[in-house]
Amino acid sequence: MSNTNTSKPDRPTRWLVTLGPTHEPIDQVRFIGNRSSGRMGFEIAKAAKETNAQVRVLAGPCSLPEMNSWNDVARFQSAADLRKLLNNEWPNFDVLVMAAAVADWRVVGAPLEGKIRRDATPPMLQLEPVAEIVGHLQSRHNQFVVGFALEPKDDLLASARRKLAAKKVDCIVANSLETLDSTHSDAQIVWGDGRVLTQGHVNEFAEKSSVARWIVQALSPAIAQKCGDR
Ligand code: CTP
Repeated sequence: MSNTNTSKPDRPTRWLVTLGPTHEPIDQVRFIGNRSSGRMGFEIAKAAKETNAQVRVLAGPCSLPEMNSWNDVARFQSAADLRKLLNNEWPNFDVLVMAAAVADWRVVGAPLEGKIRRDATPPMLQLEPVAEIVGHLQSRHNQFVVGFALEPKDDLLASARRKLAAKKVDCIVANSLETLDSTHSDAQIVWGDGRVLTQGHVNEFAEKSSVARWIVQALSPAIAQKCGDR
């Protein structure tokens, strides 16, 4: 990876990539989840590795066969698991790619004991919000954070800008809802200074592997600048 600083760091950039959904338990066999496949995050992990970065993956409950041969991976189930992993591990990395699709709600008091029977009175599940993770992470001045946003097309950029400010990340990779669980993406990168980068034409879908390589390349100068004195 290129570096714009004159003092050359003596080690590769360390990336931490979170991906996949979270599963919020109901009882010991059921959960609330979402349709994230983890594919975009994993393609970014692969693309970063191609640039000689060290890449650790934190993966939610998704099944990407290729990930079985990734040698630096830890698994999480719930948002609480992911928060704990990040609090422990983020201090040891330079770049965080927060592609995980964190659930918005969890069941109060879960997991309920055992397995709720079908012939029991249907449970009234009381939900509570899952607390923000990336927006509350402590980062150093030389760490770079990439947030994600999954939004309806008509609100994509406005919503991505709101999240960029609220979560205090360095940039947001904004995807339309159609990218969920798909092999293709129309991702755009939204920066704090108002710039929006697109790989091809706006609303054009491309293979996630090619979009991921473009994202890693597009982030590279900003990462080199911010993480240069790592
Ligand atoms: N995120 C997070 N903690 C949460 C929810 C989301 O760190 N509790 C992160 C995601 O990993 C992603 C970014 O915040 O990088 C945006 O996630 P998204 O689901 O698009 O937005 P939300 O903040 O959940 O807001 P909403 O569901 O209202 O769109």
